[in-house]
Amino acid sequence: MKLCMIGTGYVGLVSGVCFADLGNDVICVDKNISKINQLKKSIIPIYEPGLEELVKKNYKAGRLKFSTNLAESVQKSDIIFICVGTPTKKNNYEADLSQVISVAKEISKNIKSFKIIMNKSTVPVMTGDKLEKLISKKVKKKLFSVVSNPEFLREGEAIRDFIYPDRVVIGTSNKKSNKILKNLYLPLISKGAKYINASRRAAELIKYASNAFLATKITFINELANLCEKLNVNIEDVSIGMGTDKRIGGRFLRAGPPYGGSCFPKDTRALVATAKKTKTSLSVINTVINSNENRSQLLLKRINYILKNKIKNKKITFLGVTFKANTDDMRESACLKMIPYLNKKGAKIKYYDPTGKKNEFEKLKNVEFKNTIKDACVMSDLIIIHTEWNELKLIDLRKVVKKKNFIVYDMRNIYSPDKINKQNIKYFGIGR
Ligand code: UDX
Repeated sequence: MKLCMIGTGYVGLVSGVCFADLGNDVICVDKNISKINQLKKSIIPIYEPGLEELVKKNYKAGRLKFSTNLAESVQKSDIIFICVGTPTKKNNYEADLSQVISVAKEISKNIKSFKIIMNKSTVPVMTGDKLEKLISKKVKKKLFSVVSNPEFLREGEAIRDFIYPDRVVIGTSNKKSNKILKNLYLPLISKGAKYINASRRAAELIKYASNAFLATKITFINELANLCEKLNVNIEDVSIGMGTDKRIGGRFLRAGPPYGGSCFPKDTRALVATAKKTKTSLSVINTVINSNENRSQLLLKRINYILKNKIKNKKITFLGVTFKANTDDMRESACLKMIPYLNKKGAKIKYYDPTGKKNEFEKLKNVEFKNTIKDACVMSDLIIIHTEWNELKLIDLRKVVKKKNFIVYDMRNIYSPDKINKQNIKYFGIGR
């Protein structure tokens, strides 16, 4: 099939490349000329394991093209995917739809034959209705169909998540579109993905409900971890004990720093904003948002306690600063709150991240990026393990720190407290 992805961010690029790999002809469009020029040279703007190889392979095979010409790309394609950002608005919790609207207007100027317009951007319920109304100002209704097709890709696992999704959600009541789309997704359905055809509004809500539920699960286990710290119970035992009940499920029950990234914080806020408009109370999600926003402060309190209220001049190392492992994304990472706070209190901070130096800390005096784990850890008073990268899981801490007394604060519980204590290293984890 002939597809056009508008927006070469996370969703557009990964989906476009994977659709090409399934044998479709795909044009990825972006208005950013330098990004498109880089992509034509297989230079990938984001960190995503396996993506570069797939881009090279499909670009070489001619199935994948990159363009800045939206008009031409839309005209050449049968299915148009809108994959642009919907960040939180500056003044409130609502999703900013300006990019989606502007793309829809551009598309509407270029429809001459039947097109399916797939919205993959995460948008509030009824945005599909709005897009349909907007496009119908320029185009006859029988020439287009607006469908909601939420994505559930995780950064760092995006290719695997695309190829083996649990479900494909298609929000449309248009039979013709549904038939075409089922065919498009057939290679994934035949590998076990469940195909769910729902109303467009339901599909839009499924995305928010899923992310809000996962955010709730994480917040639930994080709060229980706080309790475990007081009761001397290991949260890992609780997670396993709970999670083996199939009704609960073991995934997304890992306690740690507050959840971050480009989706959970933004989508929980946007869902609450939608509910507010209809005067519906979503008290659970409101509580989740507040609890998560307060969590960095809670972890900082714990650091204060660990360092016996003496932060000034302490040498602190952060291992991993992105919001989670296997990504270079800093959005809503707890480090954005923790590092500046500790820095202000007079700590001398070194950090290491497998994805390199971060501009966010550039201006902070006494916050230094180190190229290796060894350089970051040597002579530190406190090592904070902030993300669960594989390369951070087996460090010989005694060997790299080269100091008699130091403390480890393992915010992802990736080390065994017993093993670390046996080496005479003071260890703190989350909820244990
Ligand atoms: C998420 C959704 O999973 C995906 O379906 C959606 O489309 C986009 O948003 P992503 O933001 O890439 O994906 O990250 P994810 O792996 O879901 O983790 C989100 C946050 O939750 C991270 O901060 C992570 O560290 C945290 N997390 C996750 C936990 O703290 N504990 C867990 O058990 C799982």
